[in-house]
Amino acid sequence: MTARGRFISIEGGEGVGKSTQIAALAAFIEQKGFEVVLTREPGGTEGAETIRQLVLGGSAERWLPRAEALLFASARSDHVERLIEPALASGKWVISDRFIDSSRAYQGAGSGLSDADIMALHHIGSRGMLPDRTLVLRLDSKEAANRAAARDQNQPDRIQGRVETFHADVDIAFVSFAESEQRVRLVDASGAPHEVTMRLLAEISDLLEPA
Ligand code: TYD
Repeated sequence: MTARGRFISIEGGEGVGKSTQIAALAAFIEQKGFEVVLTREPGGTEGAETIRQLVLGGSAERWLPRAEALLFASARSDHVERLIEPALASGKWVISDRFIDSSRAYQGAGSGLSDADIMALHHIGSRGMLPDRTLVLRLDSKEAANRAAARDQNQPDRIQGRVETFHADVDIAFVSFAESEQRVRLVDASGAPHEVTMRLLAEISDLLEPA
């Protein structure tokens, strides 16, 4: 029987260097002999990518918080059932750029839905599935904004364009998840990329040991 793969989600505000770090993590895990599937949310499957366009595109007023939360949960459901679960079952590791904690932080803490409601949607959509480890990359908000602006050429999507207090609430939420849940780890994203990678690897080393 193939051992089940591990599921890692990477979280963090805009401009913290998630993409670079995800690639570095994947390369390291592959070197250890595992197959790695890289994916992202919202998205990862055809249906979920279609929902991504709906939820991230258009005007800021396009969706109210509850409808937005349902759309993210719906995209996640397709992603979990069609991509993440089958990959894990076949022994592959999955690294997702964002997962449920983004909904808890952005639609919950940021937009005012309760954590219980977000998790209720997650139970319906994805049987409450949680990552084995969640790594939250954190950077001083000014440095993050500068990096994100450079990357997006100042064209934020529906959610990136929200006011600073929204993003501060999101950050506070990630910190509180790390305080109350063992699987969630905060990682300092400042400094040279390889230094950040070393910090991330330290937080997943236990997962790489044989069970
Ligand atoms: P993306 O372009 O992937 O940017 P990044 O992850 O680099 O910030 O944008 C995804 C956006 O969607 C981001 O602003 C966070 C938001 N989001 C939610 O609000 N809720 C969610 O459940 C997820 C997965 C993402």
